[in-house]
Amino acid sequence: MGIQIMPSLLSSDFANLQREIESVPSADALHVDVMDNHFVPNLTLGLPVVESIRKATDAMLDIHLMIDEPDRWAPAYAEAGAESVTFHIEAAAAPVRLARELRSLGARAGMALKPATPIEGYADLLPELDMILIMTVEPGFGGQKFLDLCLPKIRRTRELIDALGSPGAQRRGDIWLQIDGGVSVETIERCAEAGADCFVAGSAVFGADHPDEMVEKLRQLAQH
Ligand code: DX5
Ligand code: ZN
Repeated sequence: MGIQIMPSLLSSDFANLQREIESVPSADALHVDVMDNHFVPNLTLGLPVVESIRKATDAMLDIHLMIDEPDRWAPAYAEAGAESVTFHIEAAAAPVRLARELRSLGARAGMALKPATPIEGYADLLPELDMILIMTVEPGFGGQKFLDLCLPKIRRTRELIDALGSPGAQRRGDIWLQIDGGVSVETIERCAEAGADCFVAGSAVFGADHPDEMVEKLRQLAQH
């Protein structure tokens, strides 16, 4: 997989989701932020809305669960037809079991890390996962400023992923390295240079006059 741009519906107009989804045909996936007002201090949408979005589009759905007890709730999103389901490692009780369950339901399993959570303690989990999400803002809200302090972690995670792809390693294949928070024309090149290949952008895309052109522009910047 090359560079992927995933607009976050959090910054879209929730009263017109169908129209907003259709405004970004170049998106590689639609990023859907589920918040429970416990894991993060904000409340967004849940399973019924994801089920409706599933019916409204064939686009890949990338679910980002910012919720407590993902072990309990995450599998239902895979059952609803989401291609990718990401849980926060800070909230997961049994991440290996959860990742295996998501994969058995046909979804890609993602693990997200808040800015203060180091990757090192979780390196051994990588073979069980299809995506690592490095948060580059504190999760909870769109439109926050990108945290440069996360760049070294992106680099270290890229090294860990690449090491798994080397001959004789436990696993080969595609583990995507996703960045979420403050991604824009100003910051995306830094993230790409550090080794990210998958970019969530909310306010940058849906705040643009022409959202789909912004998707293409971000992709071009990341490819350099
Ligand atoms: C924040 C969410 C993000 C959010 C990003 O906690 O996980 O997906 O939509 O928004 P921007 O791109 O505006 O920082
Ligand atoms: Zn997100």
